[in-house]
Amino acid sequence: MKSSKKSKGKKFAFQSPKGTRDLLPNDFLYFDKVEKAVKKTSSLMGFSRIETPMFEDVKLFERGTGSSTDVVKKQMFLIKGKGGENFALRPEMTPGVLRAYIESGLSHVMSPAKFFYWSPLFRYEQPQHGRYRQFYQLGFEILGADDPAFDAQIISASYGVMEELKIKNIIIKINSIGCRTCRANYVKKLKEYYKNKLNKVCRDCNKRYYDNPLRLLDCKEEKCQPIKTQAPQTLDYLCSSCKTHFKQVLEYLDEMKIPYIIEPTLVRGLDYYSRTVFEIFTEGLDFALGGGGRYDYLSETLGGPRMPAVGAACGVERIIEALKTQEISSVPKTRSKVFLIYMGDQAKKKSFEILKSLFDAGIAVNEAFSKDSLKSQLRMADKEGSQMALILGQQEVFEDVIIIRDMESGAQENVPIKKLVDEIKRRLK
Ligand code: HAM
Repeated sequence: MKSSKKSKGKKFAFQSPKGTRDLLPNDFLYFDKVEKAVKKTSSLMGFSRIETPMFEDVKLFERGTGSSTDVVKKQMFLIKGKGGENFALRPEMTPGVLRAYIESGLSHVMSPAKFFYWSPLFRYEQPQHGRYRQFYQLGFEILGADDPAFDAQIISASYGVMEELKIKNIIIKINSIGCRTCRANYVKKLKEYYKNKLNKVCRDCNKRYYDNPLRLLDCKEEKCQPIKTQAPQTLDYLCSSCKTHFKQVLEYLDEMKIPYIIEPTLVRGLDYYSRTVFEIFTEGLDFALGGGGRYDYLSETLGGPRMPAVGAACGVERIIEALKTQEISSVPKTRSKVFLIYMGDQAKKKSFEILKSLFDAGIAVNEAFSKDSLKSQLRMADKEGSQMALILGQQEVFEDVIIIRDMESGAQENVPIKKLVDEIKRRLK
């Protein structure tokens, strides 16, 4: 997305903080398009909107997202409350959505519950292409659901948004990391495998070996790749119920003809995942458009009841980048077809009454309150691509009429102000 910092002329003393961007009117031509797609998909698939506070008790993320994750260890914006409270700007939505679901009592009346969100998030990351310190996610969560059909539905919802936006060559990379029991066996094997290779892998991998061994598979360092590719694979260690669960997810995806590839090293960077994990990519961009998975133990980790769940979130800025890369058009700029022109103070005053009556009738009107000459106002009406100009001078105010000028032909007609709304509606048809 284009940076808004490229202002012309002398540099202004203030700039938006590093890794953040202003969303200017042209950005909303894309934002609105993506928002419309997520709302449409959500309403077709029965997801209701949810929003949670932008900051939460820091412990929600430490315990939920996981204290050994990069997101919690390195990327949280921390806020100290005046009463000594420790808050964090939310780096992701999932723990907050689950908290809200339990806290509100909705978990007693709505299960499974299907939520969607469209929300700003904050991560203190090193900004780069597709990575910001404040960014938007659109996401889906289904809480209180362990059937593999829900995993497929979450993937289908995320895929549905991409399809609605006509993003081409979407591919889902998918894996299963098992349940508490079979994963423990797998992690044991993984550690055995890495044990005598620790001198050959990077420093981060040496830390991961002790803190979060599953993330050894997430390493992007070149020198760790040959070791990673030979590592034992999670799928070979799944218990029979995790195996069946994963097989069914894939079968449902096949039924919907959603393209996927099994990625044996995919583990995701957040601690709460179990069983299905996936990421969404498109050709031509090297970052994930979205990612998600099952989190059957998150509720218990946060001190709540047993509550299997599954969800996904996609980066809105990254989706917009995909739209631009694939030259998919934004929504067209809406321009009002009517332009009100006035001359003199009396007409300016009267124009407020006229504008109000047009707005009340649902007619969009533009004006140029600061430009006083007829010529400059007409020029502006022309630049805006207006179909008609309404011209009001002192004489017209006196006679209670207004001139309607057809901007294409230049033909002008006097119309009584009280008939103006009907006349405009007739002409706009
Ligand atoms: P995540 O993989 O951390 O998962 O983020 C999901 C998506 O958000 C990423 O694939 C990416 O498109 C976008 N994203 C992440 N960080 C940034 C950033 N700094 N700048 C721009 N975009 C970014 C989660 O957040 C999980 N809560 C997803 C989930 C929902 N799992 C279950 N339910």
